[in-house]
Amino acid sequence: MTAAPAAAFAPARRWPVAVLGATGTVGQAFVRLLADHPWFTLAEVAASERSTGRRYGDAVRWLEGPLPAAAAALEVLACTPDAVHAPIIFSALDASAAETIEADFARAGRVVFSNAKNYRMLPDVPLLVPEVNASHLAALPVQRTRLGWSGCGAIVTNANCAATAALLPLAALQAAFGLEQVFVVTMQAVSGAGYPGVPTLDILGNVIPFIGEEEEKIERELPKMLGRWSGAAIEPAAIDVSAHANRVPVEHGHTVCLSVRLERRATPADAIAVLTEWRGEPAARGLPTAPEHPIVIAASESRPQPRRDVGTGGGMSTVVGRVRADPIWDLRLVALSHNVIRGAAGGSVLNAELLAAQGGLPPA
Ligand SMILES: NC(=O)c1ccc[n+]([C@@H]2O[C@H](COP(=O)([O-])OP(=O)(O)OC[C@H]3O[C@@H](n4cnc5c(N)ncnc54)[C@H](OP(=O)(O)O)[C@@H]3O)[C@@H](O)[C@H]2O)c1
Repeated sequence: MTAAPAAAFAPARRWPVAVLGATGTVGQAFVRLLADHPWFTLAEVAASERSTGRRYGDAVRWLEGPLPAAAAALEVLACTPDAVHAPIIFSALDASAAETIEADFARAGRVVFSNAKNYRMLPDVPLLVPEVNASHLAALPVQRTRLGWSGCGAIVTNANCAATAALLPLAALQAAFGLEQVFVVTMQAVSGAGYPGVPTLDILGNVIPFIGEEEEKIERELPKMLGRWSGAAIEPAAIDVSAHANRVPVEHGHTVCLSVRLERRATPADAIAVLTEWRGEPAARGLPTAPEHPIVIAASESRPQPRRDVGTGGGMSTVVGRVRADPIWDLRLVALSHNVIRGAAGGSVLNAELLAAQGGLPPA
């Protein structure tokens, strides 16, 4: 698949889309983002048997901003391809349910944009971030044949939200200087744990230095996202990653402190120049959810801060600050990204836009 610029693309009709897991934290963000989307119409919502058969407005414990009226009136459906008819499926399912349900939809010819961990590491499943690895969409025909999906059936995944926070500055540095080793310490928001999430008495005034399987996800997903499509498999980049994951009492926004060892030496000024200019792959530019600047350099030396910076670029930009020399390796820096928007629902919607612009979705 070629990486043509997307700016000129405008579909003749909107695609009807469905959200699975629509009642959860990420599901609600999908409902908000799809309410006014120029290419997609939210036609169906689905969740567990706790919610099915009820009006979405009654089933959901709505967390943020006004609940779109059209969504509130929808009936919550069961997560099966018989009950849900849209050709495009945004999945915000818990991993315990995603494995079977997402495969059922792909087998039935639907294009599934998943936020769950289950299929991320398969060699022919893109772990897609359009500015970084749009070329990985070339894996879809191989995936379709190998896994036996019918028609346009496919699974396209999003990365772990903390890995996504680190990704954009690492991709820019990799392209300019080469990347050998990454050491990352995360400070992750409570919304990353879903709803109702972490108990209040565990997190108020506290830091929890453990998030189940998070460090492993960061360590394996970053090399895959920075890797290349060989024609048969997505080959991870030869980058060593060491991660420490912490949960902190922040509502939204994962902050990551990074130390990096580069292939070619770079000063902080060199790195800031690269990060400031970086726009990523042309294929991502002009898509409705793509931010004008995927990386934004923080306004002062005490930034980025979640409270002040998490909404930058509509929650789709990664804010980078504190770029400085590292006494052991080459550089250190801090990056902040909205875990529910860029790290989940907004990232998935951007992935669907990329596939739409490249002619990879079934006709509307
Ligand atoms: N939160 C984040 O920042 C973030 C970031 C990146 C990726 N993710 C991933 O995104 C997914 C959703 O996360 P979340 O934070 O939104 O979780 P959440 O708030 O716990 O929501 C989970 C959703 O899955 C539904 N569900 C659970 N079991 C089900 C089943 N057996 N059948 C059908 N539906 C079922 C729930 O429906 P009911 O309400 O009916 O129970 C709910 O809609 C997870 O895989 C998570 O790892 C989350």
